Amino acid sequence: MKPSVILYKSLPDDLRARLDAHFSVTEIKDLSPESQQQHAAALAQAEGLIGSGGKVDGELLAKMPKLRACSTVSVGYDNFDVEALNQRHVLLMHTPTVLTETVADTMMALVLSSARRVTELDAWVKAGQWNKSIGPDKFGIDVHHKTLGILGMGRIGMALAQRAHFGFGMKVLYNARREHEEAQSRFGAQRCDLETLLKESDFVCISLPLTEQTHHLIGAEQLKLMKPSAILINAGRGPVVDEEALIAALKEGTIHAAGLDVFEQEPLTESPLFSLPNVVALPHIGSATHETRYGMAQDAVDNLIAALTGKVEKNCVNPDILK
Ligand code: DGY
Repeated sequence: MKPSVILYKSLPDDLRARLDAHFSVTEIKDLSPESQQQHAAALAQAEGLIGSGGKVDGELLAKMPKLRACSTVSVGYDNFDVEALNQRHVLLMHTPTVLTETVADTMMALVLSSARRVTELDAWVKAGQWNKSIGPDKFGIDVHHKTLGILGMGRIGMALAQRAHFGFGMKVLYNARREHEEAQSRFGAQRCDLETLLKESDFVCISLPLTEQTHHLIGAEQLKLMKPSAILINAGRGPVVDEEALIAALKEGTIHAAGLDVFEQEPLTESPLFSLPNVVALPHIGSATHETRYGMAQDAVDNLIAALTGKVEKNCVNPDILK
């Protein structure tokens, strides 16, 4: 008999067929309490869980006594209580490699659009306001040859450094727990402490996961260290930045602008950020291209197959539970 799995995100037809070939699949809308109640019997039988969005915590695990593996269609896994999974010996699989270049592209898009006011001026032109040559009130600031500081020099940080260095002739600073020799030798990136990075960067780019240590890492105090001409870019996780402090800093001119792909609350339909012209706000599109989302779904399906057939070689968050 095929192992039962719960799918909580729709998949392209061919990948759904691959999942069906290995497992008996119950597709549910999401992991909301209503959905959990509606599918209680299927949850109780499931050995695998695959999807993205929605909390996987001790409460849900208690409803899934047979669960052996979770596979998230994302690199980030802050929605999962890893401690609770470890206690239950449930494997957690994720998709850390396939989205790297695409998320770095998104970060560069935020750098360019916030510096050159692309979205703001696009809206201005489309509103029929361009009736004479523009003046300095519509000018932006240069990106090329400026200093770009990266918080979190993982795969995505490296891909961003590559773009900044080779594409835009930028000086790259980074703050990370460890030295990255490759970042230094390939992109001339210099490691520095957080304070130095904040003080010296023209663009402070956050590519960090959300953990207890990174929660509100950037607050009022840190924003004050940035140059008044600097731009904050966040494509990691919203709660790494204290959003209330950011709104105040943007209103008061403590910093020049922000390019945000992530927010403290997502999705977001109302925010004081929306009325600020110096904010570019995107709906968490970091990895959202057709090619990359397909690749992530493909990896997630393969990850679940590997986890439930005892063939885990990569993409596992908690491989130590196998020891
Ligand atoms: C992830 O995979 O964690 C990204 O945030 C998705 O864009």
